[in-house]
Amino acid sequence: MALSSIKRILVGITGGIAAYKAAELVRLLVRQGIDVQVVMTQAACHFITPVTLQALSGKPVFTDLWDDRIDNGMAHIEFSRDADAILIAPASADFLAKITHGMADDLLSNICLARSCPLMVAPAMNVQMWENPATRRNVAQLKRDGVIVLGPDSGDQACGDTGMGRMLEPETLLDAIDASQQPKLLAGKKVLITAGPTFEAIDAVRGITNLSSGKMGYAIARAAIEMGAEVTLVSGQTSLKSPHGANLVKVTTTQQMLSAVMENLQDRDIFIGVAAVADYYVLNPSEQKIKKDAHILTLELAPNPDILANVVSLPDPPFCVGFAAESENLYEFAEHKRRRKNLPLLAANLIQDAFGGDESELILLDDKGAHPLPRAPKLTLARQLLKHVAGMLKEQKSATAQPITEQS
Ligand code: C5P
Repeated sequence: MALSSIKRILVGITGGIAAYKAAELVRLLVRQGIDVQVVMTQAACHFITPVTLQALSGKPVFTDLWDDRIDNGMAHIEFSRDADAILIAPASADFLAKITHGMADDLLSNICLARSCPLMVAPAMNVQMWENPATRRNVAQLKRDGVIVLGPDSGDQACGDTGMGRMLEPETLLDAIDASQQPKLLAGKKVLITAGPTFEAIDAVRGITNLSSGKMGYAIARAAIEMGAEVTLVSGQTSLKSPHGANLVKVTTTQQMLSAVMENLQDRDIFIGVAAVADYYVLNPSEQKIKKDAHILTLELAPNPDILANVVSLPDPPFCVGFAAESENLYEFAEHKRRRKNLPLLAANLIQDAFGGDESELILLDDKGAHPLPRAPKLTLARQLLKHVAGMLKEQKSATAQPITEQS
C-alpha cells in the first residue's frame, strides 16, 4: 500500500519521548489529504497531550478502551474496521512486546489485534532496549507476522546514548512507508548506476563541468533499492544525500568515473549510465591558478572515454541503459543514439527537463518502440523505468530459457 492509496489511517502513539514527532507526522499526513484518527496509550499522554493531536488531526483523540463516545461501545472494532492502515509511531519496546504476543489490555493494542488492514510500526527506544534479545525476537516475530517495521534510525538519543533506536523523522517515515510498498521486482539483482556531472580541471580552481544535479540518477538508485536491488552509485560532485542503502563511490573526473565503474562492474546484472559525463578533458591543466592577462587563452581539449560504450562492448555486458538529453528532434536523435550505442534501452528527455528540476518526462526507447512516461517527479519516473527494465529482463530470461527435451 503506497501512501497514495491510503485514504484513512489510524495513527497510534505509545509512550516514548519520540511521541513529540507524532505531532509533525500527523500534520504531514493531514496535509496530504489523508483522514487521520489518532489513538494514544496512557503512557503517550505523559509525553504529549491529546489536545495537540486533536488540533492537528481535526478529530477527537481516543485513549480509553471504555470511552463511551462510540455508539456501540466497541471503539477497537470500529477504528480498525475504518482504517486502510494502522501506523504506530512511536512504537515503544513494551508495545512491540505486547502486540507480538497478541495481548490486548488497552484501546490501541485491542485495535491492533482486531485489525484487518496492514500494520506498520516505527520503533523508538533506547539503544540497549533495541538491542536486547527480547526486542530482537519480538521484532523478528512481528516481521514474520507481516507487520511492516519502519526504522529505527541510529544517532543521538534523548537519554544521552548514541546508537540504533531513534524513531525515523516524520518525512523519512512517510518515504519509508512508500518504499516498503514497492514491488520487489529487482530482488537479488546487482545494479551499477552513474550519476551527476563529471568535472575536468583547467587549473587549480577552475574546470569544465555541466549543470547536471544528479537527481535522476539518485532517484533511480533509491528506486532500485526499494525494489530489492543491491546498488552501487558512482557519482560526480552533487549536493545530494546518498540514498539509504546505496554503496556510494564519489568521483570527480570522467577517467575516475570510468575506473570506478570498471572496478565495480563484476557480477552486475544492470548498468544504468545517467551521469552527464564531460566529453572532453583539458590536456595540460595548470597546477597553479592561471593569471588573468589581456591575451586570448586557448585550452587544448582531448576526448574522454565513453563509459557506457566501454561497458556495452564488454564480452558479457550487464543489461545496459543509457540516457540522452537532446535539445531538439528528441525521438529521432535519441533512437539514433540508442542504435549507435547498441543499447537495449535508452531513456530520452529534453535538455530543459534533464537538468536540476524535481520533475521530468521521459521517452523509453527499445526494440519494440517508444514508451512515453508523462511528466512526474523523478522518483516516480525512476520507478517506472526500473519496472520497464525488470519486464525486459524477464522477457530476455524466458526467451533464452532452454526448451525442456525428453531424455531417453
Ligand atoms: O552520447 P551521449 O553523451 O549523449 O550519451 C549519453 C549516454 O552515454 C548517457 O547514458 C551517459 O551517461 C553515457 N556517457 C558515458 N560516457 C561518456 C558520455 C556519455 O557513459 N563519455
